[in-house]
Amino acid sequence: MISAFTSLLALASAVRGGTTIWDGSFNPFTTVADFDKWSWANEVGTYQWYIHGSQPTSHYLALDPSYKNPADTAETNGLRMTIDSTATWNSNMERAELIPQTTQNLGTGNLFYHFSLMHSDTNPPDSTLEHQIFFFESHFTELKYGVAPNPTDLEWHVGGQPQWSTPFIAGQWYNFAYDINFSAGTVGLWASNGSSPLTKVANNIAASTSTNSEDFHVGVLRIVNTNAPEDWYVSGVYIESGPITTAIGSGSGASNPSSPSSTTVAPTTTAPASTAPSSTAPSTTSSASGATQTQWGQCGGTGYTGATVCASPFTCVAVSPPYYYQCQ
Ligand SMILES: *[C@@H]1O[C@H](CO)[C@@H](O)[C@H](O)[C@H]1NC(C)=O
Ligand SMILES: *[C@@H]1O[C@H](CO)[C@@H](O)[C@H](O)[C@H]1NC(C)=O
Repeated sequence: MISAFTSLLALASAVRGGTTIWDGSFNPFTTVADFDKWSWANEVGTYQWYIHGSQPTSHYLALDPSYKNPADTAETNGLRMTIDSTATWNSNMERAELIPQTTQNLGTGNLFYHFSLMHSDTNPPDSTLEHQIFFFESHFTELKYGVAPNPTDLEWHVGGQPQWSTPFIAGQWYNFAYDINFSAGTVGLWASNGSSPLTKVANNIAASTSTNSEDFHVGVLRIVNTNAPEDWYVSGVYIESGPITTAIGSGSGASNPSSPSSTTVAPTTTAPASTAPSSTAPSTTSSASGATQTQWGQCGGTGYTGATVCASPFTCVAVSPPYYYQCQ
């Protein structure tokens, strides 16, 4: 009786939930050279690849079956993203970030932004440095690492405020879905480890939810002051309209056939200002000009163009001058 019930539950959790509206699976990429096929003049494939350092793409990206969450059977490879002293882009921040290439509206209704993340003992992230992970240009929600109050945790932030965190242990896969209701202006978090199905770990709260559908940063930005390389492992990236798929490995690379083909070449006529290469300042806060920055948000530093005034009672502290100033 109990085992029959358990297998029913297992079956239920394996069923796809919503519709994949953008599939960030790495299956269309045979080698990392395929990421270079995208350019501003030729916007092909599923990812924009321009936020990276001066070295060849193979210096920053690598594909291998051992780089994915083993529970993700729909994908052939995971992606290893490397940042080091050569990885500065338009600033003194080290960056390796992919952006969705799609004509879908990724900022409407209730959407789930899925991804899985891991680091190993080789080139692990430095917990003394701030990292911004899987973020939107406005930073209304993101993961962070190397920041207060728990620098050795993966921390989920909303509007620059820490909301939830988990110890970031080498060799363990972490699965996430940002639960974003663009109609209500709220965001919540689903999470799990390894092959476990996602569970909701943080209820939706108010946020300045918005995206131009070309500013979801799949990757890592490090606020620099060391040359040590770091390797980050990524798989299971996809965006789904609700209800959420909680099973790991049944979303990315396993698109609902009724959804628009996500591998279709989708040329766009104009590059949005916030992601155009001429838009040189990588914004690291959500604050529009005139707004105040919230606790733990950036308030100054090289290349920074956002709010420089901290909300009361916080003050702008030179955490890593001249690169980074933070409201504390
Ligand atoms: C999203 O927000 C809208 C507007 O508040 C609400 O009607 C809708 O039920 C929400 N969707 C979900 C899945 O919570
Ligand atoms: C993931 O693992 C960490 C460390 O073992 C644990 O603290 C955390 O609760 C787990 N998170 C989830 C969502 O299961």
